[in-house]
Amino acid sequence: MRYEILEKDLQNIKSDASVTFVIGKDLEHKWIDKKLFENLKFDGEDAVLISDGLQIFVGCKSIEDEELRLGAAKAYSLLKTTKAKSVKIGCYLGKCKFLSMKAIVEGFELGSYEYDRYKTQKSTKTLELVQISTESYDEKQIELKDLQEAIDTGLAMATSTNYAKDIVNTPPQDFTPLTMADEALKLAEAKNVTCEVYDEKFLEKEKMGSFLAVNRASALPPRLIHLTYKPENPKKRIIFVGKGLTYDSGGLSLKPSTSMVTMKADKSGAAAVLGIIKGVSELNLPFEVHGIIGATENMIGGNAYKPDDVLTARNKKTIEVRNTDAEGRLVLCDCLDYAQDFKPDLLIDMATLTGACVVALGEFTNGILGLNEELQQEFFQVSKKSGELTTPLYTNRYLEATIKSEIADVCNISNSRYGGAITAGAFLSHFIRDEYKDKWLHLDIAGPAFVERVWGYNQFGASGAGVRMNLNYLLQLAKAV
Ligand code: BES
Ligand code: ZN
Ligand code: ZN
Repeated sequence: MRYEILEKDLQNIKSDASVTFVIGKDLEHKWIDKKLFENLKFDGEDAVLISDGLQIFVGCKSIEDEELRLGAAKAYSLLKTTKAKSVKIGCYLGKCKFLSMKAIVEGFELGSYEYDRYKTQKSTKTLELVQISTESYDEKQIELKDLQEAIDTGLAMATSTNYAKDIVNTPPQDFTPLTMADEALKLAEAKNVTCEVYDEKFLEKEKMGSFLAVNRASALPPRLIHLTYKPENPKKRIIFVGKGLTYDSGGLSLKPSTSMVTMKADKSGAAAVLGIIKGVSELNLPFEVHGIIGATENMIGGNAYKPDDVLTARNKKTIEVRNTDAEGRLVLCDCLDYAQDFKPDLLIDMATLTGACVVALGEFTNGILGLNEELQQEFFQVSKKSGELTTPLYTNRYLEATIKSEIADVCNISNSRYGGAITAGAFLSHFIRDEYKDKWLHLDIAGPAFVERVWGYNQFGASGAGVRMNLNYLLQLAKAV
């Protein structure tokens, strides 16, 4: 969709359709025809489409970003039922630092996403143009520069998220570790982005025994992908690490068949890393941002790694394997160790790491784990504005003790049935060097990454979890430095 700013009042813009957000049931507003609404029994909640002039009215509880995103997505789904090629909207000014138009653009773009690569009948999209009038809902004066920036930011956020969705939605036979590497190399065409792809020989040289073990029974080789975005005079160095399991069968600790379905989405952490790199380049952020991905499948076979094996990780620690389905942490621990060689000011890993996180938080919420409670809190507060739901999960000495091993330095699963999201985080913390313990966050995105029952503006399939909350955090950080 194209977004165009017009310095005209709404009624002077010619468009196929119009969308008006009705804020907090404010039916007295000049943009609202109260009489018409009474006849329609529309009280400012939900949405209506009036066929005369294709006018859409959407109720939003408030002008908070998430309300506008939900409203815009709802408006889009009504527009989709029409043949409108253009639609006009007025301006909405939020309380927060960004103009709310950022959220409206996000709502339109996220709501319009469809994955039809494998449908012989492709859906056709008629809507091409969104015309934004500078006339505002609360009659404040709009700075054109701010408005354009809000639109551009919303677009970058949403297109990076939709890009991550495409990656996650692609079936495992067509999105392998090699495809992931090709995708990353393509991304290196973006401004200030470079990419290195490393194969199994590199992993052997680097003594990534843990990562290599997970890959062993796969017919496909692993890839370690290292993307770098480097603008001039970067203010900080931020490293993202992503779990890129292009398929997780569970390995010899095989998943039950119903749990195996959707495991193409076990590459969501990696997809988020790719989406973030795309986003930071589009947003021209003033940080050096690295994206490190461990890409492999977790399969079965005569050469598979086994429960009872003891692996040696890159940092020389030994790991007792008691469950080959707890493979994500085995890939991440070597990638995290590699990442720390590049001296990050902030280190964030993302992974669909545990079913336990989904049990604990529900399928809508991401877990924020780590060893620095203040950093977890700060990330939580900032993420609230992004539209992604998060909750900090804190560790303690007793949960940490549950991954002790009798024969190795650490065990890859806990000896307790409970607290699995936190014990997975505790496992990763064994691979974080002392100097980075305060600078590290682990985001468990297992719940929201893949949507099986439609919610909010998320369609069936991937939601692009991890992209928006991190881009938002970086935008916030950019304002602070
Ligand atoms: N990829 C899964 C986690 C997962 C489960 C993601 C459901 C999304 C939805 C991960 O590799 C896994 O299988 N974890 C195990 C860990 C267990 C063996 C300690 C799990 O959560 O059951
Ligand atoms: Zn697994
Ligand atoms: Zn997994």
